[in-house]
Amino acid sequence: MNPVDIVEPLRSRWSPSVFDAAHELSDTEISRLLEAAQWAPSSGNRQPWRYLVAVRGNAAHDVLVPHLSRGNAGWVPRASVVFISVTVVEPEGDGPGDPTYPLHDLGQASAHLTLQAKAMGLEAHQFAGFDHDAVGAALGVPDHARVVAGIAVGVRGNPAEVSERDAEREHKVRTRRPLVETAYGDRWGTPWPGITPSGPTTAEPA
Ligand SMILES: Cc1cc2nc3c(=O)[nH]c(=O)nc-3n(C[C@H](O)[C@H](O)[C@H](O)COP(=O)(O)O)c2cc1C
Repeated sequence: MNPVDIVEPLRSRWSPSVFDAAHELSDTEISRLLEAAQWAPSSGNRQPWRYLVAVRGNAAHDVLVPHLSRGNAGWVPRASVVFISVTVVEPEGDGPGDPTYPLHDLGQASAHLTLQAKAMGLEAHQFAGFDHDAVGAALGVPDHARVVAGIAVGVRGNPAEVSERDAEREHKVRTRRPLVETAYGDRWGTPWPGITPSGPTTAEPA
C-alpha cells in the first residue's frame, strides 16, 4: 500500500502484471470505463481520444497480440480487456496539426479510465511496447490519428500461471523522483520552497 497521503483510488493504484486470464468484463463494465474517459476535460472540448477495444477473441485482440513486445507478450493477453488509445490530430494546412494538446488530452482521458477501473475493483496497466504502426494499419487508423498506448484492465491472477519474470515484477518496489526535482519555484531547477512531502518516494506494491 502506498503510504503517501493522496486520495483514493490514486493512492492504491499501481500496475500489476499478473492478470486472471479467465476473468471477463461485461460490455456494461467496459462501457463504464469508456465513459470515465469520455468525461475528461480537453482543450476546446475537442475530445481527441479514441479507443480500440480489444477483448480476447475479437479482431482488435487478434491484431494486437502478435505485435506486442517480448516483455509485454506474456501478461497483456491475460487481461480482460485492452484499450488501444489513439489521438486524433486535427488537420492544419495539408497535414496534421500540433499534437501537443491532443496528446495531453488523450493522456488525461486514459488516466480517468485507469482510475475508474481501480474504483470498480479492477486493475489497469498501461503499456507502449507494441508495434503501433502495424496495429494502426491493420485496424484502419487514419493518417490524422496516432496510436499512442495500450491500457490492459482486469483482475489479479495467480502468479504461478505466469513466467518468473512477470511474477517477480509483482514484488518490485515502486519508486518516484523526489518532489524537489519536479516542482520548481522562482526558476527552472530551483525547488518550489513550499514542498512538504507526506511520505517516502518508494512504495511496496499492494
Ligand atoms: C505510456 C506508458 C507506457 C508504458 N509502457 C509499458 C510497457 O510497455 N510495458 C510495461 O510493462 N509497462 C509499461 N508501462 C507501465 C510503467 O512502467 C509504470 O506505470 C511505471 O513503472 C510506474 O509504475 P506504477 O504504474 O506501478 O506506479 C507504461 C506506462 C505508461 C503510462
